Formats: sequence, structure tokens, C-alpha cells
Amino acid sequence: MRTNSPDSATPTPSFFRNWISLAGGIIAGGSLFAFVLLVAMTLFSPDGNPYVGILTYVVAPAFLIAGLVLVFGGWWWQRRQALRHPGLARTAQSLSIDLSRPRDRKVLLTFGTGSIVFLMLTAFGSYQTYHFTESVEFCGKTCHTVMEPEFSTYQRSAHARVACAECHIGGGASFYVKSKISGAYQIYSVTFKKYQTPIPTPIENLRPAQDTCEKCHWPQKFTGNIDRSYEHFLSNKANTAHTVRLLLHVGGGKAAQGHFTGVHWHMNTDTKVEYFAEDPKRQVIPWVRVTNADGTQQVYRNPEYKGEPPAHEIRRMDCIDCHNHPAHIPLPANTAIEEQMAAGKINLATLPSFKKVAVQAISKEYPDKATALKSIADALTAKYGKAEGLEAAIAAAQTVYEQNFFPLMKADWRAYPNNIGHKDWPGCFRCHDNKHVSEVGGKKAFIKASDCNTCHTIIAQGKGAELDKLAPKGLEFKHPDGELDPELLCSDCHNGGLQK
Ligand code: HEC
Ligand code: HEC
Ligand code: HEC
Ligand code: HEC
Ligand code: HEC
Ligand code: HEC
Repeated sequence: MRTNSPDSATPTPSFFRNWISLAGGIIAGGSLFAFVLLVAMTLFSPDGNPYVGILTYVVAPAFLIAGLVLVFGGWWWQRRQALRHPGLARTAQSLSIDLSRPRDRKVLLTFGTGSIVFLMLTAFGSYQTYHFTESVEFCGKTCHTVMEPEFSTYQRSAHARVACAECHIGGGASFYVKSKISGAYQIYSVTFKKYQTPIPTPIENLRPAQDTCEKCHWPQKFTGNIDRSYEHFLSNKANTAHTVRLLLHVGGGKAAQGHFTGVHWHMNTDTKVEYFAEDPKRQVIPWVRVTNADGTQQVYRNPEYKGEPPAHEIRRMDCIDCHNHPAHIPLPANTAIEEQMAAGKINLATLPSFKKVAVQAISKEYPDKATALKSIADALTAKYGKAEGLEAAIAAAQTVYEQNFFPLMKADWRAYPNNIGHKDWPGCFRCHDNKHVSEVGGKKAFIKASDCNTCHTIIAQGKGAELDKLAPKGLEFKHPDGELDPELLCSDCHNGGLQK
């Protein structure tokens, strides 16, 4: 039987009634409201800036959680006080719900509805968070300075419509979680400026290209040849044009015939090409192993390399060993200035030696963009005075700088080798240098395709009318600076900027 103690007449004391819980409640309520408001805002202006996303999905929920922690912390503290000092507070009571009491019914109803609404909002919020953290905006803009080199160059690449996450994360929950864990580290490193400048490549443990690139491009469907012109200008007074037009034998495979040729032969699914690189940037490759479909193997090595590579450092070649910068490429100073010249932005007649002067100006080290842009303008003005077309030329050089140089991250072409060709970096010649050799039964064999007209055919070269004559069988390369020493790699002299 219940005795009518004086206590039961007074309303049940609640441990939530304390200042800490009250403050927590206000914070939690406020941030929930802010969250709803922010979500509504993003719904009505989907192109909003990425910081709204951070507020919505990182800051607001953080405050909400902090508020709830305070609410329950206050409750816990109050309850502990009551238990310790029964005389001070009213007696400690365990939670009891009695549905016959109207007050309890009301509390339970409010609590239940509140929870359901909260859960739905959380679910919706999480879904939005998922998409937001996968978006190009999140990857490219939230840590503006850090990702600027990639984000800015990306927008002018063939992949400008492919989200960062398509290559960097790919599908599937496990990589989503992995990427968010490393993402958490990245937020830490950005907040406390622990990141390296420039951000180093190759990326450790990048997802295998089979899972990412091959979703959209697969080796069996590569085309035969690509016809491409490389428009150059010499660094002489006349800015002499020199174009090389190549048919690149991209090749690939005809799966039905099981036949692979050309550049994409390396991606032949039956053969395996593996290699060992001596340096972290994978620019020096002294050892290559080919495993054929029948299991036979050839090891090609640079004769100067006598060791055996450690097994865990042997890497299977895939797309990114050649296409190591498919989406965000800071162009070499030479190439970028030449592009502007080829596009007719520069008055070559009034601006002698423009290529040399411009490349020199943009390649200097500057502390930040503003200083760089001003110094570039000053350098060109000092050289050309009031020459006709100078303004347009300054604008072109500044555009090149803005698009390809990121002084705060120390990121430009010098930081990121491009392995696709062989002119400014070793690229293909890391292996195809006529040095790597395999010895089977005393017979020496070099890596195939090291002749100038195997990977591509030079179908025209020079300037003006010379370019109208096409040579389907291929021309011998006419080097503008005279005969080439076969012992030298192109990249021994060419480096994308002013020559050494
Ligand atoms: C088409 C695929 C692709 C897309 C799209 C892409 N990346 Fe990359 N990214 C790569 C590859 C491949 C590498 C270099 C891998 C290596 O060498 O280890 C790389 C490297 C990087 C690096 C390391 C530093 C560097 O510049 O090499 C960063 C940072 C980066 N990407 C950020 C981004 C951001 C931000 C976006 C979206 C704005 C993006 N990426 C879009 C494929 C992609
Ligand atoms: C979500 C689809 C998608 C993924 C994933 C993807 N690409 Fe692409 N890629 C494209 C599209 C679209 C183009 C542009 C095609 C065009 O211009 O006709 C393209 C173009 C290219 C080109 C030609 C570039 C040029 O400058 O002309 C190369 C090379 C390439 N991709 C390599 C890669 C590599 C390597 C990866 C993996 C790191 C990759 N792609 C991942 C869709 C994708
Ligand atoms: C041995 C180096 C090498 C490897 C490995 C390689 N590629 Fe290529 N790929 C090239 C070269 C060289 C070109 C010619 C285009 C150029 O110079 O930019 C090319 C061109 C392409 C193109 C453009 C084709 C077109 O018709 O426009 C795509 C797409 C492409 N590669 C995707 C891939 C993918 C995906 C993989 C991995 C499955 C891969 N490549 C592996 C060297 C390579
Ligand atoms: C890691 C070393 C390595 C790199 C880097 C490399 N290759 Fe190769 N490549 C090989 C090997 C090994 C073979 C097979 C040689 C043989 O069978 O004699 C080969 C074969 C070829 C073939 C002949 C395919 C056929 O039809 O038989 C072509 C063409 C080719 N490579 C082009 C390129 C191009 C272009 C690049 C740069 C974009 C490049 N390779 C980069 C190792 C490499
Ligand atoms: C292993 C394959 C391979 C061999 C061998 C090769 N090339 Fe190339 N070459 C390429 C590729 C791939 C490109 C395209 C690079 C690009 O798209 O950026 C290229 C581009 C070029 C270009 C244009 C580059 C530019 O920026 O103007 C010239 C010129 C050239 N090669 C000359 C030669 C000469 C000369 C030889 C012989 C000494 C040679 N190549 C041997 C693969 C090869
Ligand atoms: C001994 C050093 C040296 C070697 C090796 C060398 N070059 Fe050059 N190359 C030069 C010089 C110097 C010029 C003239 C530069 C100028 O006037 O801007 C030049 C100009 C060029 C040009 C036109 C202008 C430019 O800046 O692009 C091309 C294209 C070129 N070389 C391609 C190659 C290729 C491809 C290889 C390798 C097969 C090669 N070179 C090897 C020194 C060299």
C-alpha cells in the first residue's frame, strides 16, 4: 500500500532542472533550429558556397551533440549530488513512468514525437552529409588554399565533370569509410597546418585504377591512333614556330581476338608488367618484370642496377603509372606560354624573344599570387616599354600564372612530374630508354618500342607550309637545336621551363 508521504504530493523532482542541463537544452534546441534553417537554405540555393555545408553538417551537429551532452551531464551531476547529499536535494528517485498520470503521458508523448522528428532530421541530415562530403565543392573548396592547385587545374581538364571522389574514392562503403577516416586526419592537418607543401605524390594506397578509371574507360575499347599537334616556339628573337604533329599509337585490345597492341599493351589483362622504383616519385625505374599469359617471365634491368628489389616495393603497372595526372595538371611554364602564343594572343612581331622573357618571368619564385602578377607585369613592361600588344601579352602571361602556379602550396609543374610522354620528364623513357636489358640463356633483349616511330609516327613537323605535307610512313625527328646525342634523354635538357 502506498502511504501518503508528503513527497508524493509535490511534483516529481527532475534532475534535469539545473543550470547545466538548461544551458545544454538551449544550445541543442538552437543548433537544431540552425540546422533545419541551413538545410532549408541549401535546398533553396543549391549552388551555395561550401562553408554553408560545413556549418550545416559539421558545426551545427557538433553543437547539437555538445548541447545534449550538457543536458545529460547536468542530469548526471544533479543526480550524483542528490545521492551523495540526501539532505540537500530531495530524495533521489529512479525514473518511473505511470501512464495513468496525465503529466507522464504528456511528457512521454512530447518526448516520443521529439525523438521521431529528431531521428528523421538526423537521417535526412546524414544523407545530405554523405552527398555533400562526396561533392567536388567539399573536396575542392572547403580547404581553399590547400586544394586550390588541384581544384583550379581540374576545372580546365577533360575530367572537369567527373567528381573528385570518382577517382579518389570510388564506389562501395568500405572505401567511403576509409576515405572519411583519412579525411578526418586531413581536417586535423589543415586546421593545425600539418600538411606538406606541395602535397606529395604518388598518393599512398590510392584505390587501384581498375576500380576507378576502368568504370568509364576500359582497355578493350581504346582507339587505334590519336592525331595530335604539339605547337612550340623557339626562344630566339623571332619566336620561330616549330610544330610536331604525331599519330600516337594508343592501341589497346580487341578482346575478341585476344590481341593487344600499341601504347595500351601494358594494360593487356593477360600479361602483367611490374616494376621497382628507386625514388618516392617513381621517376627512376631500374627493374621491370613482364609475366606472360603462359607464366614465363622476363626481367629487364638497367645494367647499373645490381640489386634485387624488395618484394613489397614491386608495383604492378596500371593506368596511373602513365596517366599520373589525368585530372589536375599544372602545365609547364613553356607549354602554357606556348599555348597562349599558338592561340594568337601575342603579337610576335612587336615582342621579340617573348617566349623566353615570359617563361623567365613566370618561373621565378614569388611569395604569393598578388606579388607574382605585379612582378610579371613589371618585368614585361621593363623589357618592352610601350610595344604594341603589350597589354594583351601581360594579361596572357598573368593568366598562365594564375592557372598553373600556386605559390602558397609551392605547387606548379616542378612539383608534379607528368609521366605521359618523355620530353620534360623521363616518362616512358624510364623504361623505354634502350638501356633496360634482359638476359635469357646468354641472349640479350631490350625492351621493345624504343625507336622514335613505334609509339607514334611523326607525320609533319616545322612551320607554315611544312605542316601541309603529311608523311604517313613517318618522318625522322628534326630537332630544332640540331642533332641529338642518343646517350641523352630529352629530359636531360628539357625541363618545362628555361633550359639549364
Ligand atoms: C580522373 C581522376 C581524378 C579526378 C577526377 C581527380 N583526381 Fe586527384 N588525383 C588523381 C590521380 C591519379 C592522382 C595522382 C596519383 C598518384 O600519382 O599517386 C591524384 C592526385 C591528387 C592529389 C595529390 C597531389 C597532386 O596534385 O598530385 C590531390 C590533393 C588531389 N588529387 C585532389 C583532387 C581534388 C580536390 C579533385 C577534385 C577537384 C581531384 N583530385 C579530382 C586522379 C583524379
Ligand atoms: C566517371 C567517369 C570517369 C572516370 C572514373 C575516369 N574518367 Fe577519364 N574521362 C572521362 C570523360 C567523360 C572524359 C572526357 C572524354 C572526352 O573528352 O571525350 C575522360 C577523358 C580521359 C582522358 C583523355 C584526356 C584528355 O586530356 O583528352 C584520359 C587520358 C582519361 N580520361 C584517363 C582516366 C584515368 C587514368 C582515370 C582514373 C584515374 C579516369 N580517366 C577516370 C570519364 C571518366
Ligand atoms: C604505358 C602508359 C599508359 C598506360 C599504362 C595507360 N595509358 Fe592511357 N594513354 C597513354 C598515352 C601515351 C595516351 C595518348 C594520349 C596522350 O598522350 O595524352 C593514352 C590515351 C588514353 C585515353 C584517351 C584515348 C582517346 O581516344 O582519347 C584514355 C581514355 C586512356 N588513355 C585511359 C587509360 C586507362 C583507363 C588506363 C588504365 C586501364 C590507361 N589509359 C593506361 C598511355 C598509357
Ligand atoms: C615500367 C616500365 C614501363 C614504362 C614506364 C612504360 N613502358 Fe612501355 N613497355 C614496357 C615493357 C616491359 C614492354 C614490353 C617489352 C617487350 O615485350 O619487349 C613495353 C611495351 C610497350 C609497347 C609495345 C607494345 C606492343 O605492341 O608489343 C609500346 C608501344 C609501349 N610500351 C609504349 C609506352 C609508352 C608510350 C609509355 C609512356 C607513356 C610506356 N610504354 C611506358 C615497360 C614500360
Ligand atoms: C615508348 C614510347 C615512345 C618512344 C619510344 C618515343 N616516344 Fe615520343 N612521345 C611518346 C608519347 C606517349 C608522346 C606524347 C606525350 C604527350 O602527349 O604529352 C610523345 C611525344 C613526342 C613529341 C612531342 C612532344 C612535345 O611536347 O613536343 C616528340 C617531338 C617526340 N615524342 C619525339 C620522339 C623522338 C625523337 C623519339 C625517339 C628518340 C621518341 N619520341 C620516342 C612516346 C614515345
Ligand atoms: C642536349 C640538350 C637537348 C636534348 C637532349 C634534347 N633537346 Fe630539344 N631542344 C634543346 C634546345 C636547346 C632547344 C631550343 C630551345 C629553344 O629555342 O627554346 C630544343 C628545342 C626543342 C623543341 C622545340 C622548342 C621547345 O622548347 O619545345 C622540341 C619540340 C624539342 N626540343 C624536343 C626534343 C625531344 C623530343 C628530345 C628527345 C628526343 C629533345 N628535344 C632532346 C635541347 C635539347
